[in-house]
Amino acid sequence: MSRVDVKLGERAYTIRIERGLLEQAGETLAPFARGGRLIVVSDENVWAAHGARLAGPFRVEAAIVPPGEASKSWAELERLVERMLALGVERGDHIVAFGGGMVGDLAGFAAAIVKRGCGYVQVPTTLLAQVDSSVGGKTAINAGAGKNLVGAFHQPAAVFIDPLVLETLPPRELRAGYAEAVKYGLIADPAFFAWCEANGAALLGDDVEARLHAIETCVRMKAAIVGEDERETKGRRALLNLGHTFGHAIEAETGFAMLHGEAVALGMTLAFRFSAARGLCAPGDARRVEAHLAAAGLPTRLAVGTPERLVGHMAADKKASGGRVPFILARGIGGAFVDESVALAEVAAFLAGELAP
Ligand SMILES: NC(=O)c1ccc[n+]([C@@H]2O[C@H](COP(=O)([O-])OP(=O)(O)OC[C@H]3O[C@@H](n4cnc5c(N)ncnc54)[C@H](O)[C@@H]3O)[C@@H](O)[C@H]2O)c1
Ligand SMILES: [Zn+2]
Repeated sequence: MSRVDVKLGERAYTIRIERGLLEQAGETLAPFARGGRLIVVSDENVWAAHGARLAGPFRVEAAIVPPGEASKSWAELERLVERMLALGVERGDHIVAFGGGMVGDLAGFAAAIVKRGCGYVQVPTTLLAQVDSSVGGKTAINAGAGKNLVGAFHQPAAVFIDPLVLETLPPRELRAGYAEAVKYGLIADPAFFAWCEANGAALLGDDVEARLHAIETCVRMKAAIVGEDERETKGRRALLNLGHTFGHAIEAETGFAMLHGEAVALGMTLAFRFSAARGLCAPGDARRVEAHLAAAGLPTRLAVGTPERLVGHMAADKKASGGRVPFILARGIGGAFVDESVALAEVAAFLAGELAP
């Protein structure tokens, strides 16, 4: 069993990572029930596969949303918040976000705004949510103008990670989550990237030890970064957006037919190739990134949109201003840094080269 602390003063919390943790859900979650009742937010798939595991010395009130990114919407937020109010949720209460990143972002945001903020606990069920999104307190829904444009920083009170819950996760979702795990190696941990090259196939098979190692490595790094830069104001947390400026543009362009992690894989490959084109990193590093992500069954070649359209999505990004966007570039594997002022015109020229047949 591992415990990782997120050191945030009065908002500090612990992440528990343990094989079989859900078997003890009754004990683990009992402190978050009130008046014998535990409020759980989940999606239909997760609830069907694992809902019965949340049994304990409490009555479960489940708020189930349809699966998929489309549920990170005003409409589902409204339904969920009304449900929570009807259940009489109070500020001191904790709701349980039981699902992937979609459920975590939606339930976390609902918790941030109900009665000006109640508590919540993350029980992530996808690899993406276990290595990344369940930690750090970013919550959001999507708006017409783009992804995650409406949200709040709201830290969970605890995170409980059981790798065994991944047994039912579809392989494509597992691979997409793996992209976010590889991201941590690419940002700041070349030894972990090398570990991924050696052990990625086992992890994507059914090696629980490999999954535990990756989850713990990523969560430790994320906890440290969030502890230093909770609100992404010091340039540290922004590193976690490696591949995401390209990725969000690609997601928007494909109408979300591509999974978030898939778009991030392609986005990270593009970020490394863009860095190599600018003479920042060795072309061999960019090739190594591409080779590993492709071997993991992730997309690495851009085949959608036009440079103008893709850059148009970036200009709509919440971090863009004056024709420039902060970009995460790299001086090599494990050497990511924030470049505050990449001109979108330069990105467009690079993308034109990538899209050329
Ligand atoms: N808040 C953050 O810091 C942060 C970071 C990264 C990503 N995100 C967000 O996370 C979302 C993507 O998360 P995701 O990839 O987990 O997607 P998701 O939550 O949509 O889950 C993917 C699919 O897997 C199903 N599923 C989940 N767990 C399962 C299980 N154990 N067994 C079987 N099926 C299961 C879901 O029903 C869904 O169909 C995006 O909205 C992204 O913006 C947030
Ligand atoms: Zn992401």
